[in-house]
Amino acid sequence: MEIIEKVKDEGLQAIQNCTDSKELNQLKVTYLGKKGPVQALMAQMKDLSNEEKPKFGAEVNQLKQLLANAIDEKAKALEEMEMVKKLESEKIDITLPPIETKLGTLHPLTVVQQEIEDLFIGMGYQVAEGPEVEIDEYNFTRANTPEGHPARDMQDTFYIDPTTLLRTQTTAIQMRVLDTAKGKLPIKVICPGKVYRRDDDDATHSHQFTQMEGLVVGENITLADLKGTLQFMADAMFGEGRLLRFRPSYFPFTEPSVEVDVSCHVCQGKGCNVCKQTGWIEVLGAGMVHPNVLEMAGFDSKKCSGFAFGAGIERIAMLKYGIDDIRNFYTNDVRFLKNFNRFD
Ligand code: DAH
Repeated sequence: MEIIEKVKDEGLQAIQNCTDSKELNQLKVTYLGKKGPVQALMAQMKDLSNEEKPKFGAEVNQLKQLLANAIDEKAKALEEMEMVKKLESEKIDITLPPIETKLGTLHPLTVVQQEIEDLFIGMGYQVAEGPEVEIDEYNFTRANTPEGHPARDMQDTFYIDPTTLLRTQTTAIQMRVLDTAKGKLPIKVICPGKVYRRDDDDATHSHQFTQMEGLVVGENITLADLKGTLQFMADAMFGEGRLLRFRPSYFPFTEPSVEVDVSCHVCQGKGCNVCKQTGWIEVLGAGMVHPNVLEMAGFDSKKCSGFAFGAGIERIAMLKYGIDDIRNFYTNDVRFLKNFNRFD
């Protein structure tokens, strides 16, 4: 019995002092294994009298159970402790500030172009595009500007060969749309795109710029429809309550043709630097599609009519954002471009 007490005390002490699971495994072998003290006690049973045997046996069994339980409990405690330690050592410090990722921004011309597109898509227009390397036919001839027409000289053209050029106006897209419609009405499109002219670059001129063409053809389309549409666009782009002024003008592909001014959004028409003290800002050219244009594309100009307009996107963006040099759009200075970052 003394030995049982001794083994129990020593064993429990050793288990309690144990600090890692390997050591605990070793203890398990030492105490409960074949060569351990519990087993040795069991072996002594045979030397005892029949009366002593049951009591002694029960005591040894109890000891065995006690040690086994203590080991199990300790194993659980150690496992938990080791897990905590592991988690601690593998911890990721999520409070560390990340390296800032620099996001690009939409180009201001893209912003304005998408804004106008959305506006017209909302009115049921479709967006049409065309090639920048264009044939003379669509850029000029179909736009009622045949060879030798003086209006061809109004736009200094980059010719690639005698019949191929870099389009000088998105009006070329308009002519393609009319052509592919094959007489089917109605047509409601806007045509954004890059255009090219042999201009010397300065604060207000660029050899490459962006235009947005609008075209509506159907039955009984009138100048009043054009006015209403442009009023809607002016209000959306420059703020409610813009006044529009239509001045007679000339384009070969429209009759009548107009030059459209919007009342200055900076001074409300009183006169300032932006509107050069006139109270008005010229924003686009427009008119009623010339019957020749409709006929050349296979439409009966007695049965249908249409309006068209063409605006410079750079010009609208410059007015809207107070940009005073068109070259800013093309020099790709991030200090300029990041002003248009919508994520800041
Ligand atoms: N294509 C003309 C230009 O580049 C702009 C223009 C004027 C387009 C009147 C049109 C229009 O569609 O009807 O100067």
